[in-house]
Amino acid sequence: MSITQDRPVSAGEDLARAFTLPASAYVDPSIYDRERDRIFARTWQLVARADELSRVGDLKPATILDEPILITRGLDGKLRGFYNVCRHRAAQVVVAKGNRRSLQCPYHGWTYGLDGRLQVAREMDGTENFDKADFGLVPIRVDQWGPFIFANLDDQAPALSEVLGRIPGEVARAGYDVEKMQLVERRDYVIDCNWKVYVDNYLEGYHLPIAHPGLFKELDYDAYRVETFRYYSKQHAPIRELKPGEEPGRDRRYIRQPGTEEDALYYWVFPNTMFNIYQDNMSSNLILPLGVDKTLTVFEWFFAQPGTGPPSPMRSSRRTSRCASTSSAG
Ligand code: FES
Repeated sequence: MSITQDRPVSAGEDLARAFTLPASAYVDPSIYDRERDRIFARTWQLVARADELSRVGDLKPATILDEPILITRGLDGKLRGFYNVCRHRAAQVVVAKGNRRSLQCPYHGWTYGLDGRLQVAREMDGTENFDKADFGLVPIRVDQWGPFIFANLDDQAPALSEVLGRIPGEVARAGYDVEKMQLVERRDYVIDCNWKVYVDNYLEGYHLPIAHPGLFKELDYDAYRVETFRYYSKQHAPIRELKPGEEPGRDRRYIRQPGTEEDALYYWVFPNTMFNIYQDNMSSNLILPLGVDKTLTVFEWFFAQPGTGPPSPMRSSRRTSRCASTSSAG
């Protein structure tokens, strides 16, 4: 089997013998611990939106699982990421979003620039072998695609552009200028299951005819396809044309129009980020483990122009169905 970035990966005959992961993968805390180190500490994680860091001086603390990080927009306009850990005694340097010209640690007051350099270390003058240049915040990698800001704790990981592969080009061809997308709505759901349960559910359209008759009406299910790439998968199905007797708005939300994108596109970027592309909106799903058996899902809807249409509940209801009985937030 050949694995390349530029063309779909085929499972070939092996697909006929595919099986699910063993149950222990979903409940064993030691496996979850390994996932933290081997998956989440090595992959691009969606940690912020561009609008949260649009102005010089904007800063946002975030976490990659329980690792505290910090994203800043420096005085030079550059986006940067750091471990949000003071180099003195490891206090968290920034605890809330804001806009500042420097960062003062709340414990002993060491002060850092937005570029991470240590500027002031009070009462340290005269300390032998102490050089402020050696004690800047430790940088991490950050990168951006449209409204989405990602961070990666692994210096050796492939670039974000390599991971996203064809996705930006395909989304652009679907008519989206991601640079101009704006957040319209966010919904969070905490679900009592392992994070992979959610991902597994997202990665199959098998349940569509039964669990989501509303969405089933919109799509040509027989043409539903899944393509797998090195770092992501793409599920897509054509939007159906209007059937005789169907009325737009009453029976159908999406209708295939001449010259428009015909497919609904569902991208899963390994390991825990999804992008859903419909005719009038795109949304992201972020799947954040809170423990081996608890997961936070964050849904955000983006429109080119706010007010062009309501967020569609179809996708979220579809994707939460497997965990709905244990959801604490709906
Ligand atoms: S821990 Fe930050 S200044 Fe001491």
